Amino acid sequence: MTVPTLTLNSGRTMPQLGLGMWQASNEETEAAVTAALGSGYRLIDTAQVYANEEGVGRALAATTVPREELFITTKLWNADQGYDEALAAFDASMERLGLETLDLYLIHWPLGDAERRLATWRALVALQEQGRVASIGVSNFYPSQIQELVDATGVVPALNQIELHPHFPQWVARAFHNDLGIVTQSWSPLGGSTGGLWEKRGKPNSLLTDPVIAEIAEAHGKSPAQVLIRWHLQNGLAVIPKSVDPERIAQNIDVMDFRLTGGDLERIAAISTGERFGLDPYENV
Ligand code: A2P
Repeated sequence: MTVPTLTLNSGRTMPQLGLGMWQASNEETEAAVTAALGSGYRLIDTAQVYANEEGVGRALAATTVPREELFITTKLWNADQGYDEALAAFDASMERLGLETLDLYLIHWPLGDAERRLATWRALVALQEQGRVASIGVSNFYPSQIQELVDATGVVPALNQIELHPHFPQWVARAFHNDLGIVTQSWSPLGGSTGGLWEKRGKPNSLLTDPVIAEIAEAHGKSPAQVLIRWHLQNGLAVIPKSVDPERIAQNIDVMDFRLTGGDLERIAAISTGERFGLDPYENV
């Protein structure tokens, strides 16, 4: 399975499609990452706050896939924002992952305190300069918050990982990212976890059951999830669908043998509701 790659502003290449691991336990994560590596995935996305970096680490320790083929992302959580705090949190994440160097480190959430956001970013810049992480970026940042980091340090984040799917296509953020050469990576790309946090907040996944997506899927002999993943890929977005089920993990990477037509893309554009499933980054978490 050949997954296309995107080039980050660090010069490094990154698989456009990977496995997201939010809302999975260490045990589920270890099994899912093992299954994913067997299905051809090379990018694994975790985070300190997911509390499953150890599960990722166990799967990586057991794999025969060479380290240089793997692309591992983790993220710094809010409680550890600040310069010294971020450096210590990075060490702790690396310990749990069992890695010497990381491929991509992200600030997970834009704290309300702009000074602390900036101090955190300076810590990530230092880690990159030390060669401990190849690429650095952010998650859930608004364009103005990214601009602040760039203005203060001259260092442009390689990537911004944000909620993005056909209901919430994030045109403004994507245009801003494109102008600065920032890769946009979609979280909740399939509309979020069934039974997960968004559903508990009254926003069940309505994309996997959307009739337009279902019709397009049927026309291509593919599943709704596969159509959604192709939509991200054909829009030039990096995408990290989450699954802990080996069959769905395999299905989600089996998307290189068909293309959505211009008509399909137009129909999908029309189902945008402009509504998030998840939290607005301006909300405190
Ligand atoms: P599961 O882990 O049980 O497979 P997201 O939009 O955050 O990536 O959410 C993915 C959600 O969709 C998860 O609840 C996941 O559940 C489910 N899922 C992942 N892949 C598929 C698929 N191919 N078909 C149906 N549901 C899927």
